[in-house]
Amino acid sequence: MNTNVLTVTDGRTGKTYTLPIDKGAIRAMDLRQIKVDADDFGLMTYDPAFMNTASCQSSITYIDGDRGILRYRGYPIEELAEKCTFLEVAYLILNGDLPGETQLKDWISQVKHHTMLHETTKKFLEGFRYDAHPMEMLVSTVAALSTVYPDARHVLDPENRRKQIVRLIGKVPTIAAYTYRHSLGLPYIYPDNDLAYSANFMNMLWKMLEPKYLANPVIARALSILFILHADHEQNCSTNAMRAVGSSQADPFLAVAAAAAALSGPLHGGANEEVLRMLDSIGSKDNIPAYIEQVKAGKLKLMGFGHRVYKNYDPRARIIKWTADQVFQVTGRNPNLDIALELEKIALEDEYFVKRKLYPNVDFYSGIIYQAMGFKPDMFTVLFAIPRTVGWLAHWNELMADPEQKIARPRQIYTGPEQRHLPADKPTIRVSVMV
Ligand code: CMC
Repeated sequence: MNTNVLTVTDGRTGKTYTLPIDKGAIRAMDLRQIKVDADDFGLMTYDPAFMNTASCQSSITYIDGDRGILRYRGYPIEELAEKCTFLEVAYLILNGDLPGETQLKDWISQVKHHTMLHETTKKFLEGFRYDAHPMEMLVSTVAALSTVYPDARHVLDPENRRKQIVRLIGKVPTIAAYTYRHSLGLPYIYPDNDLAYSANFMNMLWKMLEPKYLANPVIARALSILFILHADHEQNCSTNAMRAVGSSQADPFLAVAAAAAALSGPLHGGANEEVLRMLDSIGSKDNIPAYIEQVKAGKLKLMGFGHRVYKNYDPRARIIKWTADQVFQVTGRNPNLDIALELEKIALEDEYFVKRKLYPNVDFYSGIIYQAMGFKPDMFTVLFAIPRTVGWLAHWNELMADPEQKIARPRQIYTGPEQRHLPADKPTIRVSVMV
């Protein structure tokens, strides 16, 4: 018996086809040969929301959702979070291997070289209304960088791609910090390249009149860990947007803006903001049972719970819980944590959540830490977008170098009316040209 094939018999014609199986998948295009007659287009698969479709081959991130495993380039997320800096992990995700000492120095210096924004970009940010949402400012400003770097259009040139990747990783934290300062009406703070990536980000967020910003090392390390945990997550909604837009050969600033727009939704990165709103609305532990009943009745969702891929505890949520303990030693305990812990306890024992394998995801605890650090909920998704930029760009680069990839263009099953005609007496629109 050949174990690497799928044998299919078409009940409509009685014909049998043999389709090769490679890496646990058949090629959708192999189904096209299955036809009822010569005029038939051929068989397609129908997969709304890509529940069971691999759109690419990727060597970046591995997830085993049933066992709660996440690895970047083969390294377990737990080891990377414990022993690496964010820029080391960014290098790993982008290049496939951890940097050596000299490579790391060089990489850090390249990123630092690109932290400044063009002054016109600063002015562009100034144009937003005082109450603009930071995530929407980030999306629009990243897109606007495309006007500053027209050379980014040469997406088929690997060297050029590399330059834009470094630019984006350098500049996104600066844009993020400026959106924060803008929403508070504070002057923008220029990057301080003496500082490490997360400490410099803190400087641009929180520096006031002191001559040199001194980042609290525990908070800086916690931010670095949170950045590592959020850096990539294979083919999620925003990465899929990055790849779809990138496949048209649009420049990476526009593609990252599209990915960030996808991230902003409450079912994706916007969930961390919603978790905080949910915890605030629950208010105290006594109100949890009533809230859970509403979730079970389908009236509400338990935000920060559930995942398309994880049907087990999200490994990132476990590390975030540990990080929260470190942060609270500096900031004091966030009272929302007690509500979250109780909510998790009740949910994990409840038949509704157990049956559906709904566990806390990365967004359940991250907002509580961000709030303890002093961020308002509308900044949370921006904090997610900074590290995820690395993942988006790694996927974009992989896509551009993949000879199998083409412009992304799914098929549809048309369900509209058959051909019909306008009434014969409907007059033709005529435009007369004045001479
Ligand atoms: N609260 C209550 N019920 C839920 C939840 C939830 N958070 N998530 C899923 N369910 C139920 C859902 O109603 C369905 O029940 P039934 O079978 O009776 O219809 C079942 O569980 C399966 O859910 P689904 O909607 O088919 O699952 P999905 O894979 O399409 O959606 C999800 C995944 C993450 C969008 C969803 O779980 C959700 O909306 N969660 C809340 C939002 C959230 O926390 N998002 C962050 C995801 S992780 C980080 C990221 O990607 O950005």
